[in-house]
Amino acid sequence: MLEAVSRTLHRIEGSYAFGILCSDYPGALIAARKDSPLILGYGEGFNFIASDVTAMIRYTREVCYMEDGEIAVLTADSISVFNSELVPVEKTRTTIDWDITAAEKCGHPHFMFKEILEQPEAVRRTISPRIKDNRVIMPELSALSPDYLKNITRIYIIACGSSFHVGMVSKYIWESLLRIPVEVVLASEFRYCDPLADKNTLVVVISQSGETLDTMAAMAEAKRRGAKTLSIVNVVGSSIARSADHVLYTWAGPEIAVATTKAYSTQLVLMDLLGLYLADLLGTVGCEQYDEILTAIQTLPEQMQTVLAQTNDIQYFASRWFNHNSIFFIGRNLDYAMGLEGSLKLKEISYIHSEAYASGELKHGTISLIEPGALVVALGTYAPLFDKAVSNILEVKARGAQVMALTTENRKEKMGKIADAVLTVPETHAILLPSLSVVPLQLFAYYVALQRGCDIDKPRNLAKSVTVE
Ligand code: G6P
Repeated sequence: MLEAVSRTLHRIEGSYAFGILCSDYPGALIAARKDSPLILGYGEGFNFIASDVTAMIRYTREVCYMEDGEIAVLTADSISVFNSELVPVEKTRTTIDWDITAAEKCGHPHFMFKEILEQPEAVRRTISPRIKDNRVIMPELSALSPDYLKNITRIYIIACGSSFHVGMVSKYIWESLLRIPVEVVLASEFRYCDPLADKNTLVVVISQSGETLDTMAAMAEAKRRGAKTLSIVNVVGSSIARSADHVLYTWAGPEIAVATTKAYSTQLVLMDLLGLYLADLLGTVGCEQYDEILTAIQTLPEQMQTVLAQTNDIQYFASRWFNHNSIFFIGRNLDYAMGLEGSLKLKEISYIHSEAYASGELKHGTISLIEPGALVVALGTYAPLFDKAVSNILEVKARGAQVMALTTENRKEKMGKIADAVLTVPETHAILLPSLSVVPLQLFAYYVALQRGCDIDKPRNLAKSVTVE
């Protein structure tokens, strides 16, 4: 049987992860992969295959990762792995140290809600080990010397979905801190766009699962062109983590809901820390600014907690607007990047058509879609552009739109005079505003989907790890 599988695999083209059963060989499961992830789980009296550790964390935390070309034979009591020539291979086991309760709902109605509430703690876990004596420490990156960094002429951030939106926020922050051009490219586009990556390019790859096929392929393309790759990943030992030159883990714990929340927040704060770390190495950030940002990062978990206290207001606004067919998110700069994620969250789980636009682009087309009763979520947290946010709100109001605005606490009164509803986030350093703003937007999407009776944790047609092209 093993030989038959091996010979067949030599003839199969493309990407795959197989679990093969044969009635002539009862009690045995043969597994093989190419490009798509496949993980073996060691139990007592049972063994598993899965594409993601979260699928089996309730049963075992002892896992090993299969490599392309390997074939595994599993019975209830044993796992044997062979290479493509059928020579036995000694695999290294990894213990996943995630807390099992992290993969349970623990009395919450949905994993998504539980994961939204877990964000302050997840962010704390991600930042605490990386701050010592008021400095950012990243021993994982000791090989990235200032000399290497000084020769970097371009940074690409590559990702899909919400991870891509983390990149969109980070572009604004990193370009301002590092003074190096940062391009954020969808992984599915990067791999086919003949990218300008070479040895002077740093490619930062962001992925919660570490198994997204497009992201993996884009990273391989960057490596082929000589670029250094640094991955930001949540799942320890995942394919992207293993194949990047450097890896920084987010410590969000297992995320079960398909729509990401806590993984997004930990990616964002890790990108902030990393930006600060690189800026310090390059000498492009002053001491005062460095201290100011780092202090603000440390107060983030507490501030996120205060934003979570607005749940009742958000629930009320959701009940007011859950029946809309189309919802627009507008904002400028960091608020625009934030709107992209707010809009994606809403459409993913509530199935309401939603788009995010840079407010300045309204006049170039979108404003023709604004008609009486349309709902516009206007993001105006970024102080330098607050007055512009106000003008854009007046523009859409003049065309009959209803506006739910998000701003900082000290601008609530002013915003209240023009918007139909106002949500607020506490004052913080500008670059951390997206980390706070995302929370009410996640809750809004959640409550809208709840009102509409949607399957929140498993929205139709979507998958948590997208391991196909
Ligand atoms: C899927 C998930 C999204 C996620 C995207 C990228 O579409 O539903 O929540 O943002 O994949 O996943 P990754 O694991 O690479 O961050």
